[in-house]
Amino acid sequence: MAKFKLSKGDVEKGKVKAVKVGQEEVAVYHTEADEWFATSDICTHEQCNLSYEGGKLQGHEIECDCHGSKFDIRTGAVILPPAMEPLKTFKVQTEGENVLIEE
Ligand code: FES
Repeated sequence: MAKFKLSKGDVEKGKVKAVKVGQEEVAVYHTEADEWFATSDICTHEQCNLSYEGGKLQGHEIECDCHGSKFDIRTGAVILPPAMEPLKTFKVQTEGENVLIEE
């Protein structure tokens, strides 16, 4: 199973960082409330990167910069079209200063 480890200091609160987990492009979210989540970084509408320029994260919603689709980063569910398909989600664990993402 592919894993990726980063340090908590690598992603500011309210921002999104792109990492590679195995072959997958993954967006790692650090919320203002100091929670961590991870989904596919690729929008299911037309494949734009959700992490573009630090991402447009508000609470638990990520907005795609291309055409405005919104997803819930906790479940990957679509909140606002034009995207119709949910995002794949990844497991995130925090251990001390580290954040571990698993496929
Ligand atoms: S590519 Fe994301 S909304 Fe179109």
